Amino acid sequence: MRKTLEKFNQLINNLLKDEAQRPVADHIPSEELYQTLDLSLNKDGISDEEFEKILKDIVFKTPRTATTGFFNQLFGGRNEKAVLGDLLAVTLNNSMYTYKAAGPQIGVEKVILREVCNIIGWDSNSDGAFAPGGSMTNYMSMVMARDAFDAEIRHKGSNQKMTVYTSAESHYSIPKNAAFSGIGRDNVRYISTDEFGKIKIGELKTQVEEDVANGFTPIMVNLTAGTTVLGAFDSIPEVREICDANNMWLHVDGAYCGAVLFSQKYKHLIDGIEKVDSFSFNAHKMIGTPLSCSIIVAKDKMSLQHSFSNDASYLYQTDHDEFNPGKTSLQCGRRNDALKFWTLWKSVGTEGLERIVDHQFYLADVARDYIRSKEDYMLYSYDDSISICFNYKGIPARTICTALYEHSKLMVGYGSFRDDEFIRLVTINAQNTKEDILNFFKTMETFVEEHNTLFDTKVQSI
Ligand SMILES: Cc1ncc(COP(=O)(O)O)c(C=O)c1O
Repeated sequence: MRKTLEKFNQLINNLLKDEAQRPVADHIPSEELYQTLDLSLNKDGISDEEFEKILKDIVFKTPRTATTGFFNQLFGGRNEKAVLGDLLAVTLNNSMYTYKAAGPQIGVEKVILREVCNIIGWDSNSDGAFAPGGSMTNYMSMVMARDAFDAEIRHKGSNQKMTVYTSAESHYSIPKNAAFSGIGRDNVRYISTDEFGKIKIGELKTQVEEDVANGFTPIMVNLTAGTTVLGAFDSIPEVREICDANNMWLHVDGAYCGAVLFSQKYKHLIDGIEKVDSFSFNAHKMIGTPLSCSIIVAKDKMSLQHSFSNDASYLYQTDHDEFNPGKTSLQCGRRNDALKFWTLWKSVGTEGLERIVDHQFYLADVARDYIRSKEDYMLYSYDDSISICFNYKGIPARTICTALYEHSKLMVGYGSFRDDEFIRLVTINAQNTKEDILNFFKTMETFVEEHNTLFDTKVQSI
C-alpha cells in the first residue's frame, strides 16, 4: 500500500502541475474514446509500468472540474481539507449503517446533522440523513410525504390519486421520484413561475383546489432553493399556509443553493425554512466538498424512522437505533459521505462555511457587473443568484458552449427559461477569484474573435 500511495502522490502532483498550465483537459470526441485510451479489460493482467502509463493517460484526459476553466455544472473546485476527509473515508472504508461497523464516523455524521438542525432552529425532535445526491434526498422527502399522508401505503401499496406540486423550474428528479414512489409522473403538477423563476403562489393554490375538487389528494409541495437554471429561490411562508390548510408535506430542495443557510447575509433567501417538514442541500455544490455529499433533515425524526427503517437481525446487533443510522437511510451498505464535510467544517468553522457561500455571491456580482458594463452582452438572470445567464453577440448559446468545449477552452453549459436560451455561468467554485471570473469572459471573447468563421453566420446584433 505504501508504494501505491507514493505513486498516487506522484500522479496527483503531476496532475496539479498540468492543471495549472491547462485548466481544460484535451477534448476527446466520444466516438474516438476507445481508440484514444486503452480502457479494455482482458484475460491477462499487465505490468506495473504499463498500468501506470494507462492510468496517467486516463487521469490526464479526464475533464478537470477543480480548475479555473470549469463552470459547466453546479459544482467545482477542490477544497483540500474536504479532499483529505474523503481520501481518509475511502481508506478507512467503513459502512455507515451501524456504530459497530463505523464507530466514531457515526458520530461525525450525527454532529453534522445535529448542527444543521440547530442552525435551522429545530429541537432534538429533528434529525437527518445522508444520501448519494440531491435527487435521492428529494426522493426521501417524497417517500416521507407519502407515508405521512397514509402510513399504510408502505405496507399495502396504494391506488390512491395522490398529487405533488413543484414549480416548472424545479429539478427533473421530482417526476422521477414520483415514478419511484408510486405517486406517478402524471400526478406531478408543474406550477408556473414569475419572471424571476419563482413559483407562483396563487397558481399553486388554485391548482390544489382544482385537484381536490376533482377527487385527487394533494400530499406534498416541493419548493426549490436555487433553481437549477436561474438559481431562483421559491418563497416559503405562504406555501406553508397552503400546506397547513390541505394537510400537505412541505419540502425545500436546496440541493443547489440551500447552503445559504450558513450565511447571515443570504439566509433571508430561505426565510421560513424552520417551518418546513424537510429540507435538503448538497455540500458538494455550494460548500465545495467532493461529490457526493447530500443531506436531508426532517423536523420530526420519526418520519425518517417510519419511512426507512426495517429490522434485520443479521445487521443491527449492538447499540441503540440512535447510533445505527441504517435505520434512517435509503441504502444498506453506505459509504461515508460525512467525513469530508466534517473535516472541512471542523477546520474552517461555521464562519468559514459562511465565507465560502458569500464569496460565490461576490463572484456572481463581479460577473453580472461585467456583463452589464458591456454592450455585446445580454443578461437574462437576476441578482441574489450564483447562476449568471447571458448571451454574447447574439451567438446561440449552444453553439458557443459546444465550440469552447470541443476546442478545450472552457467548460460551460447553457440553459433556458421561457423562450430564451443562454449561457449559464455558475460561480460555485469559491476558490476562484475576481480575476478568474474576468478571465472567463476574456477567454470566451478572444476565442470568438479568433474563430469568427465558426460563428460568422450566426452572429446577430443584439
Ligand atoms: C435544484 C436541484 N435539485 C436537485 C439536484 C440533484 O442533485 P444531484 O445531482 O446531487 O442528484 C440538482 C442538481 O443540479 C438541482 O439543481
